[in-house]
Amino acid sequence: MSYDLIVIGTGPGGYVGAIRAAQLGMKVAVVEKRKTHGGTCLNIGCIPSKALLHASELFDEAGHGFQALGIEVPAPQLNLKQMMVHKQETVDANVNGVAFLMKKHKIDQHFGRGAITAPGKVSVTAEDGKVTEIEAKAIVIATGSEVTPLPGVAIDEKQIVSSEGALELGKVPSKMVVIGAGVIGLELGSVWRRLGAEVHVVEYLDRILPGMDAEVAKQFQRILGKQGMTFQLGSKVTGAKTSKKGVSLTVEPAAGGEAQTIEAEVVLVAIGRRPYTEGLGLETVGVAMERGRVVIDDHFKTNVPGIYAIGDVVRGPMLAHKAEDEGIAVAEIIAGKAGHVNYDCIPGVVYTYPEVATVGKSEEDLKAAGVAYSVGKFPFTANGRARANRATDGFVKVLADATTDKVLGVHIVGAGAGEMIHEAVVLMEFGGSAEDLGRSTHAHPTMSEAVKEAALAVDKRAIHM
Ligand code: FAD
Ligand code: NAI
Repeated sequence: MSYDLIVIGTGPGGYVGAIRAAQLGMKVAVVEKRKTHGGTCLNIGCIPSKALLHASELFDEAGHGFQALGIEVPAPQLNLKQMMVHKQETVDANVNGVAFLMKKHKIDQHFGRGAITAPGKVSVTAEDGKVTEIEAKAIVIATGSEVTPLPGVAIDEKQIVSSEGALELGKVPSKMVVIGAGVIGLELGSVWRRLGAEVHVVEYLDRILPGMDAEVAKQFQRILGKQGMTFQLGSKVTGAKTSKKGVSLTVEPAAGGEAQTIEAEVVLVAIGRRPYTEGLGLETVGVAMERGRVVIDDHFKTNVPGIYAIGDVVRGPMLAHKAEDEGIAVAEIIAGKAGHVNYDCIPGVVYTYPEVATVGKSEEDLKAAGVAYSVGKFPFTANGRARANRATDGFVKVLADATTDKVLGVHIVGAGAGEMIHEAVVLMEFGGSAEDLGRSTHAHPTMSEAVKEAALAVDKRAIHM
C-alpha cells in the first residue's frame, strides 16, 4: 500500500497532523500500537486526569464549600467506582470521536507497532504477529513519551504507581507520597487529597513547578499547603521497600546528609517523562537523536530526507496542544505550505484548584535574558466576581517590556485561570501591549477583569487597588 504520508502514533500530534494532511488532499495512513487513538493524552493523560480532577473538586466542594453559601447538605459519600466509570466514559467518548474523524477523513488505520525499515517504508506488526508493509513519500514520527523511571523505586502500578496507576486506584489510600512537585504530582496529588488521602510531596529542587514564574509557584504552594498538602523540598528519594502494609521510602536531603524513612500506602512517581522511540528502527535508518529526543530542524525535518517528527518525541514542552499545533504545521509544510508554531505563545495550565496558567516569559527568564520589564499585579481578593464566588485565592501578573510595553508574559493563579489565559495568548500572538490589554473592555463582573486590572497595574493605574 502506498501513501503520500504515514503518521506513526495517533496521540494529539499524530492524529491532528493526519487530519490536516487529509484536509490538504493527501492520501494518509496512521499506525498505532494501542487499540484506540488519542495517545497518552486521551487514554491515560489529559482527559482521564481532568475527569477525576473535575469530579474530585466537586466532591471536595460539596464537603467543605457549600455551607458558607447557605446550602446545607449531608456530608457527601464517595462512590469511587462510579467516579471511575465517569472517567472511562469520558475517555471512550473522546477516543471514539477520533476514530470517527479518521473515517470521516478517509485515513487508513493500521493497528500495530510501526517500524521504519528504510526511508519511505514502514512495517506494522499487529498484536497477532501479522506484518503489513506500507510505503509513503513522507513519514511523521509522533510516538510521544513514557514515564521516566526512578532508580531504586520500582513501579508496580499498585503500591508504587506512575500517573497511569494513579488514575486507576481501586480505593483511596490513607497516605500517598508523591515524588516530584511537577504538573502530574500536583494534579493527581490533588485528586487523591480531595478524596481523603493524606498527601505528602517530596521534591528534589527547593521549589515546586520548576520552569514557572517563581512568585507564582510560591503563592501556589502556600494555597496547596492551606488545602492540606505537605511539601518536603530539596529532598531526594533513594530507595523504596514494599510490604503488605505499604511502602517505606528512604529520603535524603538533595545536597546530601542523613537519610530518613517515610511510610506511605501508595507512592506516586512523577519525576517527568522521556521521549519514546523503542522498536521504531531509528538506528537502522540513521535518524539523529539527542538525549533520547529525535533531532529536528525548524521545519520538523530529521536528518533523513522524508522523515519528520513532532510532539513529545522532539524538543519543547511536553504538552498536548503543542503536539497538535506541530501536527498541523508539519502537514502544511509537507503539502508545500508555510506551517508554523509560535513557541513564545504556548500556554501551560495546571488543572488544580485554583488553576495555574501561564504564557510567555517568567520574571526569572527576563532577568536571565537581561530584558528590562515592568510588572503589573492584581489579586483576586479585589475582584467582585471572585468574592461572589468565594474564589479569592490567587492573582494575575502581567510582565511587559519596560521600553515598548509589549506583553512578554502573563501568569495567573486562580479559579478558571486555564480559560482566562487565552486572552493573553491571543494578545501576545498579535504582539499586543499592556496598554492594549488594559484598554480592552472586560465584562463586569468577571474574573477576567483581574487580567485587565493587572495590565493597568503595569502603568500603576489599576482602578480597584
Ligand atoms: P502521545 O500522546 O504520547 O502519543 C503517541 C502515540 O504513539 C501513542 O498512542 C503510542 O501508543 C503510539 N506509538 C508509540 N510508538 C509507536 C510505534 N512504534 N508504532 C505505533 N504507535 C506507536 N498535556 C496537556 O497539554 N494538558 C494536560 O492536561 C495534560 N495532562 C496530562 C496528564 C498526564 C497524567 C500525562 C501523563 C500527560 C499529560 N499531558 C497533558 C501531556 C500530554 O499527554 C502529551 O504532551 C501529549 O499526549 C503528547 O502527544 P504526542 O502526540 O506527542 O504523543
Ligand atoms: P515535571 O517535569 O512537570 O515535574 C517533575 C518534577 O519532579 C520536577 O519538579 C523535578 O524537579 C522533580 N524531580 C525530578 N527528579 C526527582 C527526584 N529524583 N526526586 C524528587 N523530585 C524529582 O514532570 P511530570 O509532573 O512527571 O509531568 C511530565 C510531563 O507531562 C510534563 O512535561 C508536563 O508538561 C506533562 N503534563 C502536563 C499536564 C498539564 O499540562 N496540565 C498535566 C500532566 C502532565
